[in-house]
Amino acid sequence: MASKTSKVEPLIRKCVIPAAGLGTRFLPATKAVPKEMLPIVDTPTLQYIVEEAVSAGIEDVVLINGRGKGAIEDHFDIGFELETTLRARGKDSEADKLRAIADLVRVVSIRQKEPKGLGHAVLCAKSVIGDEPFGVLLGDDMIDAEEPGIRQLARVYRQYNQAVIALMEVPESETHMYGIAAGTDLGDGVMRIDRIVEKPKKGTAPSNLAVIGRYVLPPDIFPILENQTPGVGGEIQLTDGLATLQQSKGLLGYRFKGQRYDAGDKVGYLKANIAYALKRPDLRAGLLEYMREVVKTEKP
Ligand code: G1P
Repeated sequence: MASKTSKVEPLIRKCVIPAAGLGTRFLPATKAVPKEMLPIVDTPTLQYIVEEAVSAGIEDVVLINGRGKGAIEDHFDIGFELETTLRARGKDSEADKLRAIADLVRVVSIRQKEPKGLGHAVLCAKSVIGDEPFGVLLGDDMIDAEEPGIRQLARVYRQYNQAVIALMEVPESETHMYGIAAGTDLGDGVMRIDRIVEKPKKGTAPSNLAVIGRYVLPPDIFPILENQTPGVGGEIQLTDGLATLQQSKGLLGYRFKGQRYDAGDKVGYLKANIAYALKRPDLRAGLLEYMREVVKTEKP
């Protein structure tokens, strides 16, 4: 997936990664460890997301933090003692790998003082983003794709010079769990969105096209979010802000290419672990052998 971290032409320069959630679905693991640090195989989910951002040429990542997120900042900083110890033990390649994480990107942390919702989290990044288009990447959505998800969206943004969000078909029975968009097909996976609603009640969804956590947005979204009243769950919803943006400046959807895992859900998280482990030559054979055994012996 997003291991292609060599310098690329910057389609967008900055992005926001909201990481202020409490991670209650993964308690007790998330009591002291931020959910963004839970690993897929041996790498924190957030590192995959940051690598994906880097692949789109992003140079500045704005992390929106809640309380107790020091581990995240440490992860993207130089681990001086650890590196020195590894080098003293002759483990230079391990030390180099750690240094590469710190060299990936500039990380700016902003504290979201109250959990007021995703729209509010994005608004917290306003002063760092300034007056330019930017990406938003949600850590729960892992996208495994040849061309990293946010880069696909950044290309569409540059082509149409308009806000664009990632879309994916979901079963009707799940539409109430997502932002849902409907609109007119423009070809090549691009859609002009006419309607977008956050978590529509069962039976009221305008389509089965769900918003997945990748967005490329113009700075026009900030004044909209500043005036946004709370929506579903009493929170300032990004989707509600996008509905206003759609009316004033237009909004595109893009059916990205690739496999999405919902790492915010336990089964989705386990699936992601299996899928990423199967791609690892050092783990594949052992894991497959175990899975065959399980299929043979476990009753459904
Ligand atoms: C958020 C967004 C929602 C989107 C979803 C994708 O919801 O509000 O529009 O469909 O991410 O994962 P959450 O899952 O944080 O409740």
